[in-house]
Amino acid sequence: MTLNYTQTRLLEKGEQIPYELLLLADETIEIIDSYAKGGEIYIFEHNSQIIGVYILYILDIETIEIKNIAVHKDYQRLGIGTHLLNEATQRAKEKGFKTLVIGTANGAIKQLYLYQKIGFEITGIRKNFFVDNYPAPIYENGILCKHMIMLEK
Ligand code: ACO
Repeated sequence: MTLNYTQTRLLEKGEQIPYELLLLADETIEIIDSYAKGGEIYIFEHNSQIIGVYILYILDIETIEIKNIAVHKDYQRLGIGTHLLNEATQRAKEKGFKTLVIGTANGAIKQLYLYQKIGFEITGIRKNFFVDNYPAPIYENGILCKHMIMLEK
């Protein structure tokens, strides 16, 4: 498959939030709304279809977080996720932030591998984050996801 690795674009006001994609990375629309509304949503399009997305959310004057990143199932393992993470890093730099944060569940082995492979370092654990904030137990790779592993670049 030939893909054009152009820049993403900011979702404009009035455009539909691509919940279907965002729900690949988070559990409920309510939780997604809690950061999507105050964040910047960047979309990656191919043949007029949104196939990738990430949300940047400012934490403080020096720190910005990738709250959600997702690639359409049919387009995974093609390097788009890596492209989006590198682009988010570039955008964070250009905006003047010193630190880019990303968090994922303790069971998200593939994501933990990918994030570290492209330069994020584990800096902390939000203990019981998924137990305290999500209505039902979440399993990934057969592992109960209790904690959020925080990584930084
Ligand atoms: N199994 C093993 N390794 C994998 C897999 C897999 N299924 N998918 C990706 N990887 C690793 C590999 O090392 C891969 O490199 P390689 O293909 O050269 O071996 C590397 O990740 C990069 O893969 P990409 O093709 O760049 O990533 P992709 O476009 O597939 O996007 C993403 C990765 C965004 C995690 C995608 O799988 C996805 O949307 N998953 C569902 C949503 C999700 O879990 N989002 C992250 C949650 S955390 C958060 O949002 C902050």
